[in-house]
Amino acid sequence: MKTSKPISIIVAVGKNRAIGFKNELLWSLPDDMKFFKENTTGHTVIMGRNTYLSLPKGALPKRRNIVITMDKEEQFPGCIMVNSIEEAIAQADSDSENFVMGGASIYEQFFPIVQKLYYTDVEDSPEADTWFPEVKEEEWELVKATPHGIDERHRVAFTIKEFVRK
Ligand SMILES: NC(=O)c1ccc[n+]([C@@H]2O[C@H](COP(=O)([O-])OP(=O)(O)OC[C@H]3O[C@@H](n4cnc5c(N)ncnc54)[C@H](OP(=O)(O)O)[C@@H]3O)[C@@H](O)[C@H]2O)c1
Repeated sequence: MKTSKPISIIVAVGKNRAIGFKNELLWSLPDDMKFFKENTTGHTVIMGRNTYLSLPKGALPKRRNIVITMDKEEQFPGCIMVNSIEEAIAQADSDSENFVMGGASIYEQFFPIVQKLYYTDVEDSPEADTWFPEVKEEEWELVKATPHGIDERHRVAFTIKEFVRK
């Protein structure tokens, strides 16, 4: 599968490549959430059914929400429902960045075709049941890295990294 559409992945990943546990996120990182919101607002976000169900208030406001499921009947409020990765790509914008926002199964399927990663590298290795693929140095160029330390609102340190495919 290939696409010329601008589709990126946005994710927060532990040192052990952990991304989730029991259909929840592993960390509460307000400044990373702020980065997520600033980047994705006004754009299309693409997610799997489980990730949609993990959202506290359903569809993300001020964004086109595409939800991928095999279920042909399911309708989530405010979402464009699709039944395959190909259909998600067909629904994605051609002239504005689209953000794949999880979860594990959706990241895995999009990972080979996206050109950009917004990868929050979290200094933690928690227990998890979902993981992100390995980002290999020979395949991805680090173009930006913004470190963030521990403070009263962030119990772990992290670095927001941006990679482009080599
Ligand atoms: N750290 C992060 O940045 C981050 C971000 C997002 C999510 N997460 C975490 O990731 C975990 C969820 O990941 P997950 O892998 O369980 O769920 P997911 O990828 O969100 O959703 C999986 C579901 O998507 C649908 N799906 C996947 N591939 C499909 C395809 N090719 N065609 C049609 N439907 C398809 C299926 O839905 P149906 O079963 O309905 O067919 C499948 O059960 C949670 O713990 C969440 O908190 C972490």
